[in-house]
Amino acid sequence: MMTQRRLFGFCALATLLAGCSPWTSPQAGRSLYAQNCAACHGADAQGGAQVPDLTRIAARAGGAYPQRMVLDKLDGYARGAVAYQGAEMPNFGDLLVGRLTRVETDQGLSRQLPEPIVALDAYLRTLQR
Ligand code: HEC
Repeated sequence: MMTQRRLFGFCALATLLAGCSPWTSPQAGRSLYAQNCAACHGADAQGGAQVPDLTRIAARAGGAYPQRMVLDKLDGYARGAVAYQGAEMPNFGDLLVGRLTRVETDQGLSRQLPEPIVALDAYLRTLQR
């Protein structure tokens, strides 16, 4: 189970590294997750028969959290690209209305992304086991 302390610790670290506004924090990501993602991926994010376990994104990628893949997936999904073949697309307009924020990715690239996407990425990161 994730604790508030762990979330806070992550935010403190993220603030140090890149700036952590309330809108891009893991806490913000957690509520976005509950609203937009839990229906398919589960409240515990452990997925199901047809839906991947989001607590094992890093494990599936060989141990390192694949931030770029996650950001691409969320950005593409939010922009209406068909990221999930066969699954009906819910309305993710809310994920697009956030302000843009610049993100320094793990790979040393800098990208502009809507704040909700950054928050979801930050939240998913805290779930890895
Ligand atoms: C309609 C059901 C559905 C919803 C809603 C949904 N997903 Fe997914 N998600 C899937 C399916 C199915 C896959 C696997 C197929 C794929 O990768 O496109 C997937 C894959 C993913 C992956 C890639 C995992 C990996 O390791 O390859 C991520 C990350 C992800 N989803 C995050 C999210 C987030 C965050 C949200 C909420 C904004 C969300 N999903 C909403 C069904 C859904």
